[in-house]
Amino acid sequence: MTSDPSSNAVDDPLFESGHRIFSNKDLLKIGHVPEADRIVGRDEEISKLAKRLNGAVHGYSPENVMIYGKTGTGKSLVSMHVCQRARNAAQDGVAIGTAYIDCAEDNTETQAISSLAAKLNDESVTDITVPHTGLSTSKYYKLLWKTLDAQFDSVIIILDEIDLMNDDSLLMKLSRAEEAGKIDCSIGIIAISNKIQYVDNTNERVKSSFQHKELFFKPYDANQLREIMLNRADAFQDGVLSDDVVPLSAAFAAQEHGDARKAIDILRHAGEVAYEEGAEKVREEHVRQAQQHAEKDRFRELVNGAPTQAKAALLALTELSVNSDDDAFLTSRVYDQYEQICEYLDMDILSVRRFRDILKEQAFLGVVEIEKINKGSAGGIHLQNRLIEDPQVVRETILEDSRMQNWNSE
Ligand SMILES: Nc1ncnc2c1ncn2[C@@H]1O[C@H](COP(=O)(O)OP(=O)(O)O)[C@@H](O)[C@H]1O
Ligand SMILES: [Mg+2]
Repeated sequence: MTSDPSSNAVDDPLFESGHRIFSNKDLLKIGHVPEADRIVGRDEEISKLAKRLNGAVHGYSPENVMIYGKTGTGKSLVSMHVCQRARNAAQDGVAIGTAYIDCAEDNTETQAISSLAAKLNDESVTDITVPHTGLSTSKYYKLLWKTLDAQFDSVIIILDEIDLMNDDSLLMKLSRAEEAGKIDCSIGIIAISNKIQYVDNTNERVKSSFQHKELFFKPYDANQLREIMLNRADAFQDGVLSDDVVPLSAAFAAQEHGDARKAIDILRHAGEVAYEEGAEKVREEHVRQAQQHAEKDRFRELVNGAPTQAKAALLALTELSVNSDDDAFLTSRVYDQYEQICEYLDMDILSVRRFRDILKEQAFLGVVEIEKINKGSAGGIHLQNRLIEDPQVVRETILEDSRMQNWNSE
């Protein structure tokens, strides 16, 4: 070990001197923006996006871009990467600003504008203070315009996961600001959505003011997923990854759609599992455990986010499954159990028809599986419902909801 004269560290055997498995875990953080040579298979998207934003580098108006694509297709990464390069490429005398807003977090117009103003404002240049909260939306807009005019010729604003924003006014006002004479600075917007046709579903005023080009990101294939992970293999200590780890993680991540987020999550998790087991190497079994864990996480998110009535319906199905040897139940039986739960918890009881719709929604989300069984000419068609995940796990997750906690079987 080299000793650092400025360090007072004492070697204490209680603590390990380095990590056995990871050498730079940060490379596997989802928000981490890798260097250009670690980005796989997105040259075309990068150059198309750059073309649209080219104006910004010269101090005139960039175009707006709407990026569509499923989760983990590199939308956030490519947007941040291109912004970084635009800042570096700014021509002499051109001042470019860029800002990233996560609309999942800043999901109201006021929050997003106050965040934008705070992020773009350099107090030492503008002498403007942007308070975190407390101002009206219009005051925040005024501060934003002022800080932009005081600093920049052009700005590029990323509005990530814009479909989670509870209002479209932000998009409209930002797109109109220059034309409406509110600012001298040009604004280019990169709006990102997992949901296709986001703009088509906004109102007419937004549609007409947000002039834009569209970019579609395709899922990765298993080869690209492998390469993405291999490019980050230096997150691990030398020789720690067994050969089959990356291909297997890629195969899992390619199963639903080619999702790089899932690939990297599984890889990181596999490393954590191996570490906790005290293993010397990350092996196939660790990847399998990590995959199961990722599935459970995804499932928990689905169940946690479900409306109360859907939770009651799922709870009914879990009660039946836990207390019986069968795992699939006729809708009428699940409904009887659901009624008992609602009465007990003092909840409204939905009609059988609405109840069926709820089960269908849950089937669509991949929580429940519905099978049609034909009971012959007299019996007609019946539906059988089955939980996809382990009923105990579902039950525990539902009972985490304070509104459901009073339910106790037996
Ligand atoms: N082409 C790529 N090359 C390298 N890493 C990638 C690539 N695409 C995505 N990633 C990584 O996968 C994860 C998810 O990507 P992200 O950009 O967040 O996807 P999206 O925004 O489309 O959901 C991030 O950690 C990102 O760095
Ligand atoms: Mg993203």
